[in-house]
Amino acid sequence: MADLAGWRVLVTAGGTREPIDPVRYIGNRSSGKMGNAIAEAAADRGAAVTLITTVTPPDFEGSVIEVETADQMAEAVWSMNDQDVVVMAAAVADFRPAAVHEAKLSRRDGPPVIELEPTPDILAGVVERATGATIVGFAAETGSLDRAVAKALDKGVDVLVANDVLAEGSGFGTTTNAVTVILADGSSQPWPLMSKREVADRLLDLLLAMRSGSD
Ligand code: CTP
Repeated sequence: MADLAGWRVLVTAGGTREPIDPVRYIGNRSSGKMGNAIAEAAADRGAAVTLITTVTPPDFEGSVIEVETADQMAEAVWSMNDQDVVVMAAAVADFRPAAVHEAKLSRRDGPPVIELEPTPDILAGVVERATGATIVGFAAETGSLDRAVAKALDKGVDVLVANDVLAEGSGFGTTTNAVTVILADGSSQPWPLMSKREVADRLLDLLLAMRSGSD
């Protein structure tokens, strides 16, 4: 099936790592499996895929840009023009250490005070720049998804894929996911628990319908 032939699809995956010193970082539990599944599914369906990731990419027909920090991810994402679809599945740190210590912090010096500063909002930059693209954001929530509709409207994305990372079978490191998909008109569709690859294909089906104007 090559129903996405001619599409340029940009996917981000994994969790960013924000350095504290040369050996330590602030990170998160994202495994990159959801983003990898989307990149793989889109490539299998004929799209030209670029995967910008902090984790090991799948063995697939696509280009890969490996990054570590939110800054590097922002630079890589914002340098990609003319995409048809941008899927921001990565878990990007919202804050990073304001200063990175050049040498390893020593236990002898006692507990450090680490001042944080905001990272760039990559998705906001995409919404601003990629005017012709269909933009998909992700929202990892803990518990209720009530905030997710407001988040979708606030972020200005075309689709927001929200999940409760504390729910059984969902979230970080699992091979399955139960997501709720929210559209720009505020409507939402809860999808049943399925494999991340099935979520990926269903998301691509939705994007196909949206881009051909039939949704
Ligand atoms: N994201 C981003 N740049 C950041 C942080 C997040 O592009 N610096 C993107 C993620 O890739 C994801 C979405 O924004 O697509 C996730 O947003 P989320 O962290 O849920 O939203 P916040 O506005 O940070 O909400 P919260 O109030 O839960 O922190």
